[in-house]
Amino acid sequence: MKKTIAVLRGDGIGPEIIDAALMVLGAIEQRFSHQFNYHSLAIGGEALDKTGAPLPEDTLEGCKKADAALLGAVGGPKWEKNVPHLRPEKALLALRQGLNVFANLRPAVLFDSLVPSSPLRADIAKKGIDMMIVRELTGGIYFGKRGYRDGPFGQEAFDTEIYSIMEVERIAKLAFDIASRRERKKLVSVDKANVLDSSKLWRKTVDKIAQLYPNIQCEHMLVDNCAMQLVRNPSQFDVLLMPNMFGDILSDEASAITGSIGLLPSSSIGSGKFGLYEPIHGSAPDIAGKNIANPIGTILSAGMMLSNSFGLHKEAKVIDDAVKAVLAKGLRTADLGGKISCSKMAEEISLKVLTV
Ligand code: NAD
Ligand code: IPM
Ligand code: MN
Repeated sequence: MKKTIAVLRGDGIGPEIIDAALMVLGAIEQRFSHQFNYHSLAIGGEALDKTGAPLPEDTLEGCKKADAALLGAVGGPKWEKNVPHLRPEKALLALRQGLNVFANLRPAVLFDSLVPSSPLRADIAKKGIDMMIVRELTGGIYFGKRGYRDGPFGQEAFDTEIYSIMEVERIAKLAFDIASRRERKKLVSVDKANVLDSSKLWRKTVDKIAQLYPNIQCEHMLVDNCAMQLVRNPSQFDVLLMPNMFGDILSDEASAITGSIGLLPSSSIGSGKFGLYEPIHGSAPDIAGKNIANPIGTILSAGMMLSNSFGLHKEAKVIDDAVKAVLAKGLRTADLGGKISCSKMAEEISLKVLTV
């Protein structure tokens, strides 16, 4: 199979973790005789430095022409004081919106060999964690009207959480479809319907969609309770559906209980086969350039790309199995208390890809 992949390395650890994922994709090409053509495109701080814009037009257009896009991370102290439209993070938001990838899927799984690495009490961790967070990605407070104005006490700033019925319907349908394909067939929708109107509409709309899926057990949970349940009893969760900002926050929490934020992949999808694939973490400026980042979140994101965008399910499973095998052997990057470098981890996983 021949595919074109837009590659957006970005900032901080972005280049290191992307090169790790490309090494693993190279092993997939070799084993299964596929051909992936990579098209490198600038984004974030890297693009700002090169072109003056965080998301150059070529980058968005290049992604649109590709079969899928693989992204590292953006942002860093160098650009922290930039005006909002010239911040690296702005590129990510504009890219997600420009590609209309309204659903961000973040699977949080605790691998057997990492149970001791979870910060949860052993009896809680042993019950297992296998959840799919479905985060709405192109709406909510990230994209609502914002600004500064004069208020009764002087200058004030505001951001607005907005959800239309259409936006909630399409993400809810996608989440229920995912729940239908999973064994436990449970969906928890997370909101703040005891306070926010946008959440009341979210809940009502999710209930309407739930009626189309009578085989799925659907519950609503307030976001503060959900944050607490995630550490108290995460094995209760199967599919979690949530608005943009709650999904951002709770997926970092979900990643920590599986051992490290460096482990979690994501896919951002819309209505077609195209997807944007990226780990859930950021550019980790504190460890950038040291070859110590955990590349597994990015490698598993590449696996999600193979399966979701290219239909290469067997190949994706080979990546998952290779990651599990390497972890089972006890190999660990620094975030998990080990000494294995980012590139060495990629080499080990690539070798396993050729043999598992
Ligand atoms: P972060 O996720 O970059 O890092 C948080 C902590 O986790 C740090 O201690 C970091 O070293 C560690 N960490 C993250 N990924 C790791 C990995 N793969 N291996 C080992 N350790 C890892 O979050 P932050 O520090 O709040 O943000 C840093 C920058 O990244 C900011 O500019 C932020 O806006 C940006 N950011 C970008 C994305 C993205 O591009 N998708 C996501 C989140 C944050
Ligand atoms: C993420 C990041 C982004 C988000 C930032 C960098 C805009 O935190 O992908 O989780 O909030 O969506
Ligand atoms: Mn985040």
